[in-house]
Amino acid sequence: MLKPKVLATRVIPDSGLEIVARECDAVIWNEEIPMPRSNLLESVRGIDGILSQLSDNIDAQIMESAGPQLKVISNYAVGFDNIDLAEATRRGIFVANTPDVLTETTADLAFALLLAGARRLSEGVDHVRGGKWLTWGPRLLLGYDVYGATLGIVGLGRIGRAVARRSRGFDMRVIFYDPEAVISAEEAKWMRPAANLDQLLSESDFVSLHTPLTSDTDHLIGEAALAKMKSTAVLINTSRGRVVDTEALYCALQAGRIAYAALDVTDPEPLPSDHKLLGLPNCIVIPHIGSASVATRNRMAVMAAENLLSGVRGQRPKYLVNAAVNVERTGD
Ligand code: DGY
Repeated sequence: MLKPKVLATRVIPDSGLEIVARECDAVIWNEEIPMPRSNLLESVRGIDGILSQLSDNIDAQIMESAGPQLKVISNYAVGFDNIDLAEATRRGIFVANTPDVLTETTADLAFALLLAGARRLSEGVDHVRGGKWLTWGPRLLLGYDVYGATLGIVGLGRIGRAVARRSRGFDMRVIFYDPEAVISAEEAKWMRPAANLDQLLSESDFVSLHTPLTSDTDHLIGEAALAKMKSTAVLINTSRGRVVDTEALYCALQAGRIAYAALDVTDPEPLPSDHKLLGLPNCIVIPHIGSASVATRNRMAVMAAENLLSGVRGQRPKYLVNAAVNVERTGD
């Protein structure tokens, strides 16, 4: 029997790659940089499924180039803003992602960034490495207390909730902004909704972003939002770079309108090494590694591979994002 034809746009961990290589006729892009657009357009021709990355822009042109047999786009990420979902749905193409499995790992990293920003860890490392550590200093690298501070969570989904849970160990006060979130009676004992985003921004010592990137959240944190924050506040972003207006953030950090930013995601991404944000002492940038633990990336690889296999076989992927396609495909 002929194996389904698939394209994997990057090498994923072996746990998933082995499944794909065994069950499919697979083309795998074996480079450390994303597939250039021209290669992607060419390589998708005639394939049944794409195992994509958040760095691939899977739009109508890619779907058109693939052809009508394309059944599934399995994204190796929980976020899927890199895929034109409406277009995929219109064409009856399954889109699947890797939710849940990376929640705790990403929340760990968000909390690491929170602590690193509060206590100026990267400045401390630079201080020692740069040979500036001459003696103990009574005024050296004074940061902000985490315990007892107010944490503002923007977007109370799975990861936002997991970050909120961690903050309880630090006796933080937790507020959140998410018009769609419903909290349990238990959660209501230790977190409360802010009346609006402005209230969250003005009351929080730490603002942690956990919203997906949509047309509503694109540049949600721009000049006006940053102006609402405390001058001592730390902004943490592990969601998507474009939720924050980079230029406005640079100006706010440089002018001391907020104290610190700790970013796992940026706009643009990757951030060029000569980007002005990297010249600021009060900004930490790390390279989008929220879900990057060995165990989590292995689990994501299996999920993405299984989503891909179901899709190319015309079956509903377990972690389907566009449920409307499910009805069409399983109904035929
Ligand atoms: C995701 O899954 O969307 C993260 O940003 C990367 O793992």
